[in-house]
Amino acid sequence: MNYRHAFHAGNFADVFKHVALLGLLDALRAKPAPFCYVDTHAGRGAYDLRGESAQRTGEYRDGVARILQAGDLPPALTDYAERIRAFGVDADGSLVRYPGSPLLARDRLRADDRAMLCELQGEEATALRAALHGDTRCAVHERDGYAALKALLPPAQKRGLVLIDPPFEAQGAEFETIAQALTPALARWPNAIYAIWYPIKLRETITPFHRWLGSEVGKADVLVTELLLHPDNTPLRLNGSGLAILNPPWQFDVHLGGWLPSLARLLSNGPEATSRIDWLRR
Ligand SMILES: C[S@@+](CC[C@H](N)C(=O)[O-])C[C@H]1O[C@@H](n2cnc3c(N)ncnc32)[C@H](O)[C@@H]1O
Repeated sequence: MNYRHAFHAGNFADVFKHVALLGLLDALRAKPAPFCYVDTHAGRGAYDLRGESAQRTGEYRDGVARILQAGDLPPALTDYAERIRAFGVDADGSLVRYPGSPLLARDRLRADDRAMLCELQGEEATALRAALHGDTRCAVHERDGYAALKALLPPAQKRGLVLIDPPFEAQGAEFETIAQALTPALARWPNAIYAIWYPIKLRETITPFHRWLGSEVGKADVLVTELLLHPDNTPLRLNGSGLAILNPPWQFDVHLGGWLPSLARLLSNGPEATSRIDWLRR
């Protein structure tokens, strides 16, 4: 596996995914019963934006940096910007670090909530353990996140969220792997929220997965949301990204509608940016 998230941390796709993630976690926090957050592809937790990888691509400059520079944001984006500032802006006001999904989620855990964080690459898992500073609410599992779904679900907490955020080194094959892992996961923990991130290059590579989600995935409601900076008609670049959300919280489509069009405007480089919030099944 060649994938290193450090090249992409804080890019437009990370911003979209992480704002949505915070909304899902807030919905879980709205009820007093403890919840469990499961991250199948957790990454290293914290990314140095001054490091060689981030500087080589500079992707964060057209992602998170734009949000921090913008004024008059909707509440969900203001909340996201505040967390990024608290974590990653140094004393002279420069953005130097970006939090990954495990650290954003860790911040939202209450005393009885728990996180199970899976990361296959040893170096990334070791960095993640260090970034968590021994927080006993969080367990890092250095293993395949798909296999972990079988082994770890259901957790003791009855409610929760599973984030599936793979590197998608081979797009069609990754969708098949996700589908194979989701079926038993849903059988074991049917009422959890499942959020599956995917890249958008060519639309036709995604359509079969959406068809499968809409027709075959147990009884779950399925909400799809996407943010595209370019038309979805070339495999040569990342045109956008999407999240398929199974069992979304009540009115999560309304929540997304409150910030996604603003985010598309802020991240667009021209007139081409579009966003989408659609039910595949309800
Ligand atoms: C897109 S990154 C994760 C980013 C992270 N979720 C975030 O939002 O900050 C994907 C991560 O999955 C890891 N990975 C790849 N294949 C895996 C697998 N089968 N199981 C667990 N982790 C895997 C990679 O090493 C990489 O760190």
